[in-house]
Amino acid sequence: MNKIKHFLQFNDFGKDEMELLFDRTKWIKDQYKSYKKYWPLEDRTLVMIFEKASTRTRLSFEAGMHQLGGAGIYLNTRDSQLGRGEPVEDAAQVISRMCDAVMIRTFEQDIIDRFAKNSRVPVINGLTNEYHPCQILADIYTFIEKRGPIQGKTVAWIGDSNNVCNTWLQAAELLDFNVHVSTPKGYEVEVERAGLYNDKHFEEFEDPMDAARGADIVTTDVWTSMGFESEKNERIKDFTDWQVDSDMMKIAGKDALFMHCLPAHRGEEVAADVIDGPQSVVWEEAENRLHIQKALLEYLILGKIK
Ligand code: CP
Ligand code: NVA
Repeated sequence: MNKIKHFLQFNDFGKDEMELLFDRTKWIKDQYKSYKKYWPLEDRTLVMIFEKASTRTRLSFEAGMHQLGGAGIYLNTRDSQLGRGEPVEDAAQVISRMCDAVMIRTFEQDIIDRFAKNSRVPVINGLTNEYHPCQILADIYTFIEKRGPIQGKTVAWIGDSNNVCNTWLQAAELLDFNVHVSTPKGYEVEVERAGLYNDKHFEEFEDPMDAARGADIVTTDVWTSMGFESEKNERIKDFTDWQVDSDMMKIAGKDALFMHCLPAHRGEEVAADVIDGPQSVVWEEAENRLHIQKALLEYLILGKIK
């Protein structure tokens, strides 16, 4: 029986584990900010497998491992056997014998699930078509830093019901907050694909302004995610009215934050004066990827500290 703890989707962790991670992140971030060496993962190795492009995910995991005293090794499908048809199960057996954890960015969730089933070490989802759990860890941590507990708050999701949206929805179930979703027709949330147990923590709105009304966080993402490029022209037409602009931010709660996982397209899913405006916390979200993933690596590799 494989008892290894993985982080393949947000609800792989319980509420207590999330709280532990947020506490550890604060401590780890404080150490880093005061230039204190913290090397709990000395001589440990993370293998990072990328089947899609990345800036933040690669950098935050690689820098994070280095800062914890370990090392990150980058593999991609272009120049490894992974792109030449080696079965995922075989790759998992081999790779997991040579490292302490694996992070994977890939297409279908099934690929990472199969890898994890055959892995001797913890596997972390660095983005799949269905989920982006590390992103939402960082986003919620950013909210907590700025505004306190997220329980009972409202997140407005404007745009595509993609991997980032699905993960917000899972997080809402686990941490007891609400998500107001507004997507164009034909792009609605698929409850099963999102891995939800019920629809108690989210509500769908036809008009994005209604979704944003009174929200504590207004968030969006690209209209065309990686892997869906063939739909790009159609999506540009379909999503025109789903831009987060300053009128939308005005209708949100007065202390509302704007979030975006990045990379962003100004003039498409978000207006420049919003992402570059005073309510935007996009750079903090990006930085917090580093700190929360260090806490995640520490927890998955070493277990609970203290
Ligand atoms: N937000 C995020 O995951 O960014 P990258 O695609 O650059 O890793
Ligand atoms: N939804 C986007 C997120 C990128 C970080 C994508 O999957 O391309």
